Amino acid sequence: MNEKLQSIKEEALKLIQASDVPEKLNDVRVKYLGKKGELTAVLKSMKDVAPQDRPKVGQMVNDVRAEIEAELETKKKEMEAAIRAEKLQKEVIDVTLPAKKNMVGHRHPNTIALEEVERIFIGMGYEVVEGPEIEYDEYNFTKLNIPQDHPAKDEQDTFYVTKDIVLRTQTSPVQARVMEQGKLPIRMIAPGRVFRSDEVDATHSPSFHQIEGLVIDKNITFADLKGTLEEFAKELFGPETKTKFRPHHFPFTEPSAEVDVSCFKCGGKGCRFCKGSGWIEILGCGMVHPHVLEMCGIDPNEYTGFAFGVGLERIALLKYEIDDMRLLYENDIRFLKQF
Ligand code: DAH
Repeated sequence: MNEKLQSIKEEALKLIQASDVPEKLNDVRVKYLGKKGELTAVLKSMKDVAPQDRPKVGQMVNDVRAEIEAELETKKKEMEAAIRAEKLQKEVIDVTLPAKKNMVGHRHPNTIALEEVERIFIGMGYEVVEGPEIEYDEYNFTKLNIPQDHPAKDEQDTFYVTKDIVLRTQTSPVQARVMEQGKLPIRMIAPGRVFRSDEVDATHSPSFHQIEGLVIDKNITFADLKGTLEEFAKELFGPETKTKFRPHHFPFTEPSAEVDVSCFKCGGKGCRFCKGSGWIEILGCGMVHPHVLEMCGIDPNEYTGFAFGVGLERIALLKYEIDDMRLLYENDIRFLKQF
């Protein structure tokens, strides 16, 4: 009996050692310890053993069973550890790899500058309006006091869609459109794209942006114009900013002026930024010409007003110290990312 038990044990242990997957271990368990297993069969044959030997044989069977069970358990743990190690190996993640970055868009410098200008004027009670980019020659020129043969038309050479329709050269035609609607008083800015047949260089582009301003009311004077634009310059470039109004000519305003601001880089001493002069030109302005008011249906004896026009790119280039306008249009993400 002892020999038989020993041989069952050895066989079982061999099979356990040879098992490579948990299913095979289970087969071994069934083969020896299951209801119809070999060891179970030995227990069942106890009736053939002499009664005085039964406790001893029973003890031996139990010992063998315990040994087989212990071996099964050990092998099972080994297998589980191996499976786990393999899984870890396969699913390894290199946490030192840089994560995939989401490319988040940025506001364009023009947009940032425009929002800043809009914020300032909205704060002063202005409305933001828009006009068409494809405009009648009449609104772009004639109603602004620029008749057919006026030399100012040459300076603003543009793209003609037909003889009477142009890509607007300025946002000033929005003035005429708003005045014609007849709702007074007017306090508005009109940002938008404009076009001229200019060659591309560091300061020119055939397409750029302006912001037009217009105020029409009773008793509006040049003092209102000055105060408004001084306040605008201070808000945009800092409270130390000084303004200078230089006489100029625009056909649709009389008197007219160009406005310079003290250089916000050197404070007016003169530097590379302001080309040594201490001043930087930022806009054109003036009192709306009585003839323009008349052409747009407003009585110049009752109403007066002022207007101004700012180049948006000019503001963006100055504020962000960009020295080539072309950068604004190239859509180079490395450039745009900086704002
Ligand atoms: N439209 C003018 C230009 O493109 C700028 C300008 C000057 C607009 C004076 C105005 C103004 O409204 O009063 O050069």
